[in-house]
Amino acid sequence: MSVQTRTKRTTAPQIGARKGGEPIVCLTAYTTQVAKLIDAHVDLILVGDSLAMVLYGLDSTLGVTLDMMIAHGNAVMRGSSTACVIVDLPFGTYQESKEVAFRAAARVMCETRCQGVKLEGGTEMAETVAFLAERGIPVLGHVGLTPQSVNQMGGFRAQGRSEEAARKIAEDARAIAAAGAFAIVIEGTMEPLAREITGMVPVPTIGIGASPQCDGQILVTEDVIGLFTDFTPKFVKRYGEMGNLVAEVAKTYAEEVKTRQFPGPEHCFGTAGKPRQG
Ligand code: KIV
Repeated sequence: MSVQTRTKRTTAPQIGARKGGEPIVCLTAYTTQVAKLIDAHVDLILVGDSLAMVLYGLDSTLGVTLDMMIAHGNAVMRGSSTACVIVDLPFGTYQESKEVAFRAAARVMCETRCQGVKLEGGTEMAETVAFLAERGIPVLGHVGLTPQSVNQMGGFRAQGRSEEAARKIAEDARAIAAAGAFAIVIEGTMEPLAREITGMVPVPTIGIGASPQCDGQILVTEDVIGLFTDFTPKFVKRYGEMGNLVAEVAKTYAEEVKTRQFPGPEHCFGTAGKPRQG
């Protein structure tokens, strides 16, 4: 469905039905304001646990709690009306058992009214994905570079370099798709592997550092607009330089405050300048 003709919120099954069609456009958002700005241009908004680094200055996603994801999920739901909103389940809220995962996912669904949840993992999470999907919770899978396993992986680095590692990721994707995920994020893998997985699984693949052949693409909005510049992975394309703009605006504002150019009469009440209404 094209952006122009959408009037209602896109659902997870609608995203799932886009296999092999027009590429699915996805971005992250954590706040109402960013959600408002991107909503009309994307099919899916992910409230990613990457907010750990981007908003909270943490060095990994491990410090994120379910309450944080619910608060940001609510903010994004308030700012969007047509995109399919998916909220990440944070580390430690779903790995223990399928029942624990259901309780965490149900809280996210009920308290934010989002369209589904994302969880990381492959074959070991397949039973959990099936448990959630069979009980009314659309699940977006996430294989390849799975940031919540940073300690296991020994750092954030592209996955699937050896034949054995590539086979394991392909098997992970196959298992998550068979378990009922409506789509799968493939992050940070060798391009031929992501292409092969896309041709192999019956559900859409959403690439990030994966392949142009994926059924969709996702990036972190703050990376794309140049607002988060602590590190820029190879797979990020920066479409704007908001970081420079913010610094420039702060500098000009500081100069004007110090030289008493701001506030001007038009910004004050009861002066000769044009008063603002309200
Ligand atoms: O947390 C996140 O933002 C993500 C995307 C980068 C896929 O998982």
